[in-house]
Amino acid sequence: MSKTSVQPPTMIPVARPFIGEEEEHAVVDTLRSGWITQGPRVAQFESDFSSYIGCGHSVAVSSCTTALHLALVALNIGPGDEVICPSLSFIATANSIVYVGATPVFCDIDPVTYNLDPARVEEAITPKTKAILVAHQIGLPAEMNAILKISKRHEIVVIEDAACAIGSEYEGSLIGRPLGTLACFSFHPRKILTTGEGGMITTDDAGLAARLRKLRQHAMSLSDVARHSSKQVMTETYDEVGYNFRMTDMQAAIGSVQLQRLPDFLEKRRYLASRYDEGLHSISWIDTPFVPDNCRHNYQSYMVRLKGVVAAKRDAVMQELLEKKISTRRAIMAIHRERPYMSEHWDKVLPQTNFATDTALILPLFHQMNEEEQDYVIEALHSISV
Ligand SMILES: Cc1ncc(COP(=O)(O)O)c(C=O)c1O
Repeated sequence: MSKTSVQPPTMIPVARPFIGEEEEHAVVDTLRSGWITQGPRVAQFESDFSSYIGCGHSVAVSSCTTALHLALVALNIGPGDEVICPSLSFIATANSIVYVGATPVFCDIDPVTYNLDPARVEEAITPKTKAILVAHQIGLPAEMNAILKISKRHEIVVIEDAACAIGSEYEGSLIGRPLGTLACFSFHPRKILTTGEGGMITTDDAGLAARLRKLRQHAMSLSDVARHSSKQVMTETYDEVGYNFRMTDMQAAIGSVQLQRLPDFLEKRRYLASRYDEGLHSISWIDTPFVPDNCRHNYQSYMVRLKGVVAAKRDAVMQELLEKKISTRRAIMAIHRERPYMSEHWDKVLPQTNFATDTALILPLFHQMNEEEQDYVIEALHSISV
């Protein structure tokens, strides 16, 4: 193993959430307020989120997985329907389709951006296709103009899996000003803005937002807040089968604070990403991330592609880095390689997905990362001995 200039005292993680004193105070205040699940702070977070994104409506839920599930239910997608989605994504993307009884149809990606290849999307459309579930993978917006054109031509809806895309921009607009019908975000601790667990659905359709609000709390005809603040006795009804996908007020209180920090988070991540670009471009076996001119990346993750003989030795590279106290992760998973979705067919029609999942590597990037830590990672990559 070759020597690098700085030795980090502790492991450099691949990601680390940033939670400050303001978040702690916000949670304590909520606990003392007497209202701890979906209530005034959830309503406030939704309003803050809509103002930030510039969308008509934001509906908070318990995770992005439940956001995607609820989005499909609200759009009446169910048994017999097909939903086109990438296999190169977190498994929740496809699971949400299975939850409603529909069939995920995996589509290959553009090997440069890691996002759905519009040409492959068009080929995958059948009379059963009801929706395209587009992921903005690790925060890089997908090629939405081409995908929206296809959806219009075939009269199918587009749902955005924006789990990783808070703060990312497509043609000058933030992701979440829905380009499709709905966009779903995640606030898991691996994401840039975290509430521990949590999700948000954004839409400009008031009717759809009302339906989502109802479905997320057991399809109750009245919200708890409406019942609580009423001067008259009110009894709710349940006219369909709903879900408990509520966010708590503690999570929402954290979310409103995190939203204020978001511009700072994004600036730091973009700064660190540009330092990685500069520090790694001379390594012949690494391709740094490509960002199309009409997109702004939030760098939720900084993912490089390993090339040539090194690509086949990714595990050895990861091990050598780990021994230098640098944590990395394999690329985005390929859903079709997991037991519930495995088939020879998918393996044959997804060559770019297979290639991407086998050759890419996620490097450490988090808000508190300092330049010394990052230089240590860059030097470690320059001196890899595999
Ligand atoms: C693309 C994508 N979709 C959905 C999810 C699920 O998000 P959550 O953990 O909030 O349910 C994730 C989480 O990593 C993701 O990366």
